Amino acid sequence: MTTLETIRNAFSGAFNQVAECVAYAPGRVNLIGEHTDYSGLPALPMAIDRGTFIAVAGDESGVVEVRSEQFAGVARLTRAVPDAGAGEPWQRYIAGALAELAEVSPGRGARVLVSGDLPTAGGLSSSSALTVGLIAGLAAAWGERLAPEEAARRAIIAEKHVGVETGGMDQQVIALGKGGQALRIDFLPPATRYVPIPEELRFVVAASGEEAPKGTAAREAYNERVVAARAAAVLLAHQMGFEIESDPPLLAHVADVDVVDVLVDELPEKAPARDAARTAGIAIERLTTLTNGEVDPALKLSIRRVARHVLSEAGRVDAAEAALAAGNLKAFGALLNESHASLRDDLRCSTQALDKVCAAMRKAGALGARLTGAGFGGYALAAVPAGKEDAVIAAAVAATGGPAFAVVASDGLQLL
Ligand code: GLA
Repeated sequence: MTTLETIRNAFSGAFNQVAECVAYAPGRVNLIGEHTDYSGLPALPMAIDRGTFIAVAGDESGVVEVRSEQFAGVARLTRAVPDAGAGEPWQRYIAGALAELAEVSPGRGARVLVSGDLPTAGGLSSSSALTVGLIAGLAAAWGERLAPEEAARRAIIAEKHVGVETGGMDQQVIALGKGGQALRIDFLPPATRYVPIPEELRFVVAASGEEAPKGTAAREAYNERVVAARAAAVLLAHQMGFEIESDPPLLAHVADVDVVDVLVDELPEKAPARDAARTAGIAIERLTTLTNGEVDPALKLSIRRVARHVLSEAGRVDAAEAALAAGNLKAFGALLNESHASLRDDLRCSTQALDKVCAAMRKAGALGARLTGAGFGGYALAAVPAGKEDAVIAAAVAATGGPAFAVVASDGLQLL
């Protein structure tokens, strides 16, 4: 297990000098509200008791050297052109972080050691933990203490720079998480509030056995859904007789209209963004342009299904928050199962292995189970009554080979 002491010792061993500061950024598990954030609709994640330590010592080299015990290769990126040095996918997050710190002591460099116990297979936000922790740790070593909200804000832009049009849930809960609490995040308008987790409710996370880090394989599939949701938003607004003026157009802009559920059924089953833009009378770029890159305007997107998932999932976030407040664990578990079915059938980001591990955990006594994070592989989450954790973990390991383990709601970003 990595601790403040072990990371400090490892840093001294690697670089022959003492670390000046250590940032700790936890992973997260999203309880419910999956594939909603990029539509401006709420999510309910919590920070977990596993995470990433980032030990830093500043220097005057203008180069940032990062070694990691989890990721392969040593990164050497210059402050002036960080992108040029980023080879491996994980190094692109470092380049993104450096771009967001461009104005902080621009001539300075640093040596960095990354270590921790957060699985990198996808689902528990190892990439966002790395990005948030790097931004906070490097800024501190260069003389600027960023507020957690500010570290999160910069990390969101850094990840978009990498090419994942992230909605911003991960970075915010990693920065703002609190022990014993989930974090309800609203995006339009932005707001957060803590939601206490009932004492008898426990959580288990389980690997599906398939890796899907969002920086690589899952990226295209993820971005396609982002654009499908935008296309649905402009078509729904068009049906309602108005045009969404802000960019990008979001399902949040139409979600409150009473008839939205009926109108969703009239959306095209599959259509390219190009057709949606033409129908709505708007410029195609408003749908397909991402912060870094674009989605092919001619690619057929599952517009109706994506909209049905996102809008129904937003309703489940409200219902799940109410169930937690009422201590109604059965209702909470049922919502997790409904969320999984919607992600599997409508958003289509589940896999057979994720379905299998969720089914095994339910059978072993979980109140509910669902994939967590972007999906396409990675991790699943189960809500479990206290005392049943071991049985659920054993069932998950039997189904997929593991790992599976209990997680608890924990504090967010820390400078140690
Ligand atoms: C990834 C993204 C988040 C969110 C989830 C799906 O983790 O980084 O912003 O969209 O997928 O809910």
